[in-house]
Formats: sequence, structure tokens, C-alpha cells
Amino acid sequence: MLNIQFTPFPELATERLVLRRMRPADAPQLFVLRSDPEMMQFIPRPLHQTEADSLALIDLCNDTADKNDGISWAVTEKGKDVLIGTIGFVKIQKEHFRAEVGYILHPAMQGKGIMKEALATVIDYGFREMKLHSIAAIVDPANTASAMLLEKSGFMKEGHLREHEFLLGRFWDSVIYSKLKYSFEL
Ligand SMILES: CC(C)(COP(=O)(O)OP(=O)(O)OC[C@H]1O[C@@H](n2cnc3c(N)ncnc32)[C@H](O)[C@@H]1OP(=O)(O)O)[C@@H](O)C(=O)NCCC(=O)NCCS
Repeated sequence: MLNIQFTPFPELATERLVLRRMRPADAPQLFVLRSDPEMMQFIPRPLHQTEADSLALIDLCNDTADKNDGISWAVTEKGKDVLIGTIGFVKIQKEHFRAEVGYILHPAMQGKGIMKEALATVIDYGFREMKLHSIAAIVDPANTASAMLLEKSGFMKEGHLREHEFLLGRFWDSVIYSKLKYSFEL
């Protein structure tokens, strides 16, 4: 049976990280990520113009978790409690026991295995606690870092949809990756 219950909010810890609920006070750090054209080049969402946009996104993420429709964690370093990135199940298809994972990490923190560590605990939570059957990720074909992270985390490339979405004034390709629960040691 699927078990999607995000109250109380499931805080997750890894060797170096704490994944916790986002707070309004995280807005300045989230704004740094969401307003940076380079960071957002593969994420088809409007760039944040002010910290108010980031605050609104934090509220939306927390409302979504309160309704058990999705979950986003702030990624923080143990002992620092400053948002350095986010990761979450941005879409959940309950009828299919399937969720789509999304993530972003501050450029200064990239290349240190941080998102791989965060993703591993989120995958564990998805299969073990939520009882998902599959976890998907949708990646721009030019997003090598994201594709490598997924492949190194045991995701398989399943298909490439060409120019199938029209967002922010242009057509976007999507490469679909997924990980099935059989590939995960329960
Ligand atoms: C994708 C992203 C989260 C990766 O985070 P990260 O913490 O730097 O990734 P990691 O250091 O955990 O790397 C995981 C693996 O991928 C590999 N990798 C990461 N970036 C890579 C790159 N640019 N080129 C080749 N390999 C790369 C690492 O070598 C590592 O492999 P290993 O386990 O064998 O050492 C980060 O680049 C990011 O925030 N990008 C912008 C936002 C974005 O595009 N989000 C995804 C939308 S689908």
C-alpha cells in the first residue's frame, strides 16, 4: 500500500547533510538559485525576479506537502542549517505508485557528491517509506550533470521525447529516466 503522509514533515539525515522542510527565512538562498539563468537553463520555470517569488515558491512547496501532493526538502549541511539546494518529489502519480524527482544545488557546492548523497536518501525514503514502485526524472538532453547524477544513482534512460513541450516561449526536449523498486535493495 502506498504511504504518502508528509505530516509530521519527514526530516532526513545523511553523513554530511540534513534535508528539512523549507522555511520563509530560506527565501534569500533560494532566490540565489532560482534567479540565476545558468542554474535554471535546464529547468523550464520562470526566473525569480525578487525574493517574494522565492517566498511564494516556499509557501507553495509547503502547502503541497501539507496536502500530501508532493514534497520538497531544503538541502543543508549538517551543523550549518543554510539552504544550499533543494530536492523533492515534484509530481506524484498516486495511482501509478510513481513520483518525479527534481533537484538543484548551489554552484559552489557542486561536484562534491552532495546531490548524489541527497538523492540516495530521497530514493530510500521514496521506496521504503512512501512505497513507490518507480521514481522518474525528466532531464534536458544537454544537462550532462543531471544525467550523470541519475546514471550514477542507478536510473535508466528510457526515452527521448523531442520538442514535445512548449514552455517559456520555446520547445523543449525531455529525456526520461527512471528507477524501479526492484533495482533497490529493500
Ligand atoms: C545536477 C546537479 C544537482 C548535480 O549536483 P552535484 O552535487 O554537483 O552532483 P554530484 O557531485 O553528486 O555528482 C554525481 C555524479 O555525477 C557526476 N557528475 C556531476 N556533474 C557532472 C558533470 N558536469 N559532468 C560529468 N559528470 C558529472 C559526478 O562525477 C558523480 O559521479 P561519481 O558518483 O562517479 O563521482 C547540479 O549540477 C545542479 O544543481 N545543476 C543545476 C540544476 C539542474 O539542472 N537540476 C536538474 C534539473 S533535471
